[in-house]
Amino acid sequence: MIKKAVIPAAGLGTRFLPATKAQPKEMLPIIDTPIIQYVVQECVDSGIEDILIISGKGKRSIEDHFDRNFELESRIQEKEDEALYTQLRHIESMANIHFIRQKELNGLGDAIYHARFHCEREPFVVLLGDTIIDSVIPVTQQLIDSYEQYQQTVIAVETVPWEKVPRYGIVGGNNLSDRVLQLTELIEKPDRKHAPSNLAIAGRYILTPEIFSALEKTPRGKGNEIQLTDALRILLKKEGIIATIIEGKRYDNGNKMDFLKTTVEFALKRKEFAGDFEKFLRETIDILDKQTASSRKRNSP
Ligand code: G1P
Repeated sequence: MIKKAVIPAAGLGTRFLPATKAQPKEMLPIIDTPIIQYVVQECVDSGIEDILIISGKGKRSIEDHFDRNFELESRIQEKEDEALYTQLRHIESMANIHFIRQKELNGLGDAIYHARFHCEREPFVVLLGDTIIDSVIPVTQQLIDSYEQYQQTVIAVETVPWEKVPRYGIVGGNNLSDRVLQLTELIEKPDRKHAPSNLAIAGRYILTPEIFSALEKTPRGKGNEIQLTDALRILLKKEGIIATIIEGKRYDNGNKMDFLKTTVEFALKRKEFAGDFEKFLRETIDILDKQTASSRKRNSP
């Protein structure tokens, strides 16, 4: 039974500056809900309510978000907005959330090492705090299902275009089934020519506590940081690791383009916006089509 999750959320969010100069990237909203709330919801939807968030400098608003705000609640109650009141109360009670601060930013591997006292006895899920995965079955649940079947460390992966391979941790292995591979290789952000495949690590993992001793032996790697992928490589020499190809759409919201796409796609799914927003998008596309047509006309001989 997997009961605990760890969400690393201490990173500086430099890819999203200046928005992240004074606020955590995990608190940027997709419409009206901070990214990290979707991540916590994925845990809850997968039956996990004990969550450790690895936070750090400038991240206090994450704690406040999952805390109770009496003043705000009583204002909303005065306005008799029952739906909003229920929504606010839901956030503070959705999970049992703990926080630990990563004082120095030494990489994802180091962030996970901060969970050693919380997760020393049992396997746990790791969900990157800026990655939302939209799926019918929550991806965490998909990984739990694989773990229950194979009883090994599980890494979520997805196929990415070859030109994007150097941005990710990449895995190689042999198929156990359509969607599961027994890994033989893991490499963090390889050149295309050194990549064993174009299967990229997708920001969700189930790790066994053995990861902590592997992390102790992990030297600094890419970007002079302690990389989780390098620790997994050490672990692979001692025990099996599998990868599960996820069913779902991943949005890396540390990246502006993905953030825009998430916002548009999630807005189209929301009943209160769908009609008007779709109309707006169609009108915008219409204008773009007209502009393209008239610039073609101008440029044609
Ligand atoms: C991290 C991991 C990488 C993984 C990626 C997914 O990299 O180190 O293995 O593929 O997340 O988003 P980062 O994006 O933090 O550089």
